[in-house]
Amino acid sequence: MAPTFDCLLLTQPQDDVWLITIDRPKALNALNKALLTSLSQAFQWLDALPTTKVILLTGNGDKAFVAGADVVAMQAMTALEARDFSHLGMALMHQIEACSAPVIALVNGYCLGGGCELALSCDYILASENAVFSQPEVSLGITPGFGGTQRLARYIGKGNAMQWILTGDRISAQDALKLTLCHQVLSPSELLKGGLAQAEKIAKNAPQAVRFAKQLIHQGLNLSLHDGCQLETERFALSFTTQDQTEGMAAFAERRPARFSHQ
Ligand code: COA
Repeated sequence: MAPTFDCLLLTQPQDDVWLITIDRPKALNALNKALLTSLSQAFQWLDALPTTKVILLTGNGDKAFVAGADVVAMQAMTALEARDFSHLGMALMHQIEACSAPVIALVNGYCLGGGCELALSCDYILASENAVFSQPEVSLGITPGFGGTQRLARYIGKGNAMQWILTGDRISAQDALKLTLCHQVLSPSELLKGGLAQAEKIAKNAPQAVRFAKQLIHQGLNLSLHDGCQLETERFALSFTTQDQTEGMAAFAERRPARFSHQ
């Protein structure tokens, strides 16, 4: 049975697919230290389960995915406390990127500040039509602190990141789609179904190959093209030592669906 985590609901909507629902309704799921810690513990638990093939992350209710880092908690922070808070958030974002299973953010409603940084650390984002994305930190007298300036510039380009972060503008789901910040826009009632459809497709593929591909994309983003391609060659070769490769290619030759097992 799955353990419980403060302010999170953990469910398994399909075999091998887990759904983490952030559940702190009184603060529109704002991220405080306790919630960041709970999220880290939940990801650690799921990552250690050999059967986890896909993780979906969403917010409870239809109003907010996450309305930011907790402004009430941040108001009284000293610079040293703020640094610790940033380290905690940064560590979670790195942990999600390093999690072996793909993580898909299902953004339902406000996705602001730290919430947007959380969504950005997931492997990709599906948004509901009522999603609102923003990095409004400069209006509060601070900078983003969970990696927003770095990931946004890498993912949507320098000019888009500059305009977005410096103006603090709110962006609709459709505009986020144009920026390729999110990859699909669905009605609020279809968002989970859309996430599960993606998860089902991923879960049908070879689990070790999916993990390798996720790692390659993340690691390659921090490397030169040449070094990234070298890494790909090594991982490509390594994949020929896996049961995934044996089964995947045997199934092709025998004209039958592959039956991949957990590794
Ligand atoms: N941190 C802490 N509490 C938050 C929060 C946050 N980031 N976002 C919302 N809340 C709390 C509100 O203080 C309020 O609590 P209260 O009922 O005890 O007063 C509750 O959540 C509901 O929010 P409210 O502002 O009443 O809802 P709304 O529909 O009028 O507005 C938002 C929703 C998201 C537009 C508004 O809450 C907001 O601007 N939040 C802050 C967003 C932000 O700056 N995030 C980035 C932080 S880096």
